Amino acid sequence: MSSDSPFLQLCRKRRSVRRFADRPVEREKLLLALEAARLAPSADNFQPWRFIVFDEPERKQALADAVFKGVFAASSRFARAPVLVALLIRENVIVNRVAGGIAGNQFQLIDAGIAGEHFVLACAEQGLGTCWIGWFDSRALLRHLGLRRGYRAVALFAVGYPADEDHERIPRRKRLEEIAFFNRAPE
Ligand SMILES: Cc1cc2nc3c(=O)[nH]c(=O)nc-3n(C[C@H](O)[C@H](O)[C@H](O)COP(=O)(O)O)c2cc1C
Repeated sequence: MSSDSPFLQLCRKRRSVRRFADRPVEREKLLLALEAARLAPSADNFQPWRFIVFDEPERKQALADAVFKGVFAASSRFARAPVLVALLIRENVIVNRVAGGIAGNQFQLIDAGIAGEHFVLACAEQGLGTCWIGWFDSRALLRHLGLRRGYRAVALFAVGYPADEDHERIPRRKRLEEIAFFNRAPE
């Protein structure tokens, strides 16, 4: 395999961070990562993503109280991250239901995943740790934001500088031969 490109090095460097330093995150860095998300591709160029940044401690705690309760309490440690970012999609009936239904896919979830990972990689490039959070009460999140119809809460991100003692190992990955196939179907 050819040697690592800067992009591949960034992909190797990124890992999920769950313990954060007690250090604020600069708005400029968040804005740069949001700009990377803004540039993501999307089905029909609909750009359904909305990123809601909680970097004020009281507002962040209120959000965490709303979405990490009950069965989701396992995620409450993410309340200690300096920043929480909610990723929503603005649902579009044509893109999601009609085109997605015919093609048998959920385009707007794909869109959100792409934009979300643009955000995550741009954070990593700037030395910020992130963790995708799927285990939260997505309905409570929408209620918390006063949103009812037309939106879906897809994910949260914890964002901050990794704690010094954060030595989480990188979980193993499948080998290339297990995930990529040229001119044939997987077994
Ligand atoms: C859609 C999605 C949801 C995730 N939800 C959680 C979560 O709720 N809690 C958590 O600790 N990690 C969560 N993760 C992080 C994964 O556990 C992590 O990406 C995986 O174990 C690989 O580790 P790495 O990101 O350090 O390479 C999530 C990741 C993705 C992509």
